[in-house]
Amino acid sequence: MRGQVRVPGDKSISHRALILAAVADGISIVRGLSTGDDVARTASALTAMGVPISVLDDGAGHQVCGGRAHLREPEGVVDVGNSGTSIRLLAGLCAGFGWLTVLAGDASIARRPMDRVADPLRRMGARIDGRNGGRLPPLTVRGGDLRGLDYDMPVASAQVKSAILLAGLSAEGETVVREPVPTRAHTEELLAAYGADISVEDEPGGGRVIRLRPSALHPFEIDIPGDPSQAAFWVVAACIVPGSDLVVDDVYLGPARAGFLDVLAAMGADVERVGERSLRARHSPDLHGTAVEAHQIPGLIDEIPVLAVAAALADGVTSFAGAGELRVKESDRVATITSELAAFGVSVKPTDDGLTVKGTGGDGGALKGAHVRSHGDHRVAMAMAVAAMAADGGSVVDGWEAVATSYPGFEDDLRRCVTR
Ligand code: S3P
Repeated sequence: MRGQVRVPGDKSISHRALILAAVADGISIVRGLSTGDDVARTASALTAMGVPISVLDDGAGHQVCGGRAHLREPEGVVDVGNSGTSIRLLAGLCAGFGWLTVLAGDASIARRPMDRVADPLRRMGARIDGRNGGRLPPLTVRGGDLRGLDYDMPVASAQVKSAILLAGLSAEGETVVREPVPTRAHTEELLAAYGADISVEDEPGGGRVIRLRPSALHPFEIDIPGDPSQAAFWVVAACIVPGSDLVVDDVYLGPARAGFLDVLAAMGADVERVGERSLRARHSPDLHGTAVEAHQIPGLIDEIPVLAVAAALADGVTSFAGAGELRVKESDRVATITSELAAFGVSVKPTDDGLTVKGTGGDGGALKGAHVRSHGDHRVAMAMAVAAMAADGGSVVDGWEAVATSYPGFEDDLRRCVTR
């Protein structure tokens, strides 16, 4: 792997930029949106709610004509596809309006827990129902007349925090979200930048308290930086493919997004930050196992599939503790990482709250090419492609189309930086 690669715009920031532009009063410009299907789902949901979103003449940006007064009840079911961020954040947004929204998605979304957002939004006054006693999608949301909530988050989840804050924008009184472990901070950062009455305090034990009062947002322009979760695939690929020296340009490395770099550093990987926002990764033949602790997990949860691949090439065992959330991602990632890495000859053991990976490095063993499955999970598909790059012989990833969820250009970027 050599040269330079530019990953798509950050997916989490893209969802939030679109949603905040939809409620900001006036015309906002969003450049560098994630090109994946997930963010397209948020855009089409907002369009269905009456928000005009158009592509700028240069093709690189979008114009969003926002304003709370323009938003209206969507005529049909809002289909979020595979996007957990869309369904949870839109539930929060729609809770602020008196009309009915029906939010549905694919088979993976139908299995993902929604009580984590529905419970606090109900306590704010929204009526939310769904399958399985209101816990699973499709969800119906009828909102309006919300009151602020003081909420201790039982799970470390940026999606839950964001849903509550989006609802809090139009609630009466103050909304307070208390998170025991900091999660990605995009919603607070963008709300503060676009005029919301919001404050964030760090707590002595490492937690954070976010206070938001009902606010109107002003329109804005944003250039979305590259997605660190996508950069992680290239960084790990460069570490494990002999002869690699790769730069990933313009990557967001803010709070709770760059934890994978700490783990790779602990494994002895040759990865450095270049300037403010670029990463340089080189082949790292002496990777060794490490113990990733529970408090680190929210800062690298999406990178665990590809970190497990790095661990597979390392000498010794790598463990991920406090990572039970992996079970309720796009696939049950404890199960899918275990089964698919096994096909490459790697021993992964599920634990009560995560997994351990026995590296092959110490035996001088390489992975062997394998026929694996994505299980419809974009990050499993790309992580297995990275494993395949370091394996002897060819590999096949069934269900490869899942990459379109977040990174439709993955294959093109791969071709550009593979050494021939
Ligand atoms: C996201 C938060 C994380 C992450 C997901 C995107 C977000 O989920 O896994 O891919 O954009 O807020 P949780 O909030 O469920 O941890």
